[in-house]
Amino acid sequence: MIIGRLPKAELHLHLEGTLEPEMMLALAQRNGVPIRFRSVEEARSAYRFGSLQDFLDLYYEGMSVLRTERDFYDLAWAYLERAKENNVVHAEVFFDPQGHTARGVPFAAVFGGIRRALDDAETRLGISSRLILCFLRHLDEDDAQRTLDAALPHLEGIAGVGLDSSERGHPPSKFARVFARARSLGLRLVAHAGEEGPAEYVREALDVLGVDRIDHGNRAVEDPALVARLRELQIGLTMCPLSNLRLGVVPSLAAHPLPRLLEAGLLVTVNSDDPAYFGGYVDDNYRALGLGEAAQRHLAANSFRASFLPEEVKRHWIDVVNSF
Ligand code: HPA
Ligand code: ZN
Repeated sequence: MIIGRLPKAELHLHLEGTLEPEMMLALAQRNGVPIRFRSVEEARSAYRFGSLQDFLDLYYEGMSVLRTERDFYDLAWAYLERAKENNVVHAEVFFDPQGHTARGVPFAAVFGGIRRALDDAETRLGISSRLILCFLRHLDEDDAQRTLDAALPHLEGIAGVGLDSSERGHPPSKFARVFARARSLGLRLVAHAGEEGPAEYVREALDVLGVDRIDHGNRAVEDPALVARLRELQIGLTMCPLSNLRLGVVPSLAAHPLPRLLEAGLLVTVNSDDPAYFGGYVDDNYRALGLGEAAQRHLAANSFRASFLPEEVKRHWIDVVNSF
């Protein structure tokens, strides 16, 4: 497979979802945080999910071991080293500050550790990046506004905002004001939509929030007019095959909508979402689709097209991809 050799961007990656069980146990010990798993095997064997919510319960439990600036640095650095092995040259990564500030961890510790790792990755690993602050959609909009307040002193290190966590019953429109405010601050906008929630949530993310990109977007396929619009506007869809399989969003990899959407000319991309929990980093997600070399090249080029890199940098990487 050519994919291991192609440069690529990863655009849908939750840093807290890169917490491997080995690091979870080590940080639990380092910080004296009690966790219910006594071994790596015991943790991994709990990673069986019937739905998004099953996963999120474990994801929030796992992140309880993250307490200090150093923990966030170590977490992000471990991901960036894995990304390097996958030939990721650009990463646009999510973090969930509310998952930490609610436990008494200062915003500055979370942001500071992650930011320092991203800066080190640029100089030491040659990986450029953007950091995207996600609001937890199961919480109310005032909580999101307070989180944006906390981010204000750090906006030079934050490229955009996103929306994640429990989708059903928490439509994008619930966050219309905080997204409008983020836009007025010059931030880029993305949102998880159409993962478990209906195609209507993808429409809302576009029409009410005005997002630049949709995370997942699988269920857009249920609405042909919406698919036509996503193609027309070349809205990036950051899809995550192994995540979708593990969370029951698709019944099998063979049923994944990505190849059809790629064929139809939509700006689809391949990403790993929460690789420590879903059994694979970004190259594993490309391989899982079993596509030919032309499609792999097309997807690697799309990862740059859909990124927030400047046009000339996109052009450079797309030329490199096409030279393989
Ligand atoms: N969906 C929604 N929220 C999330 C996810 C996801 O796949 N991963 C981490 N938070
Ligand atoms: Zn996600």
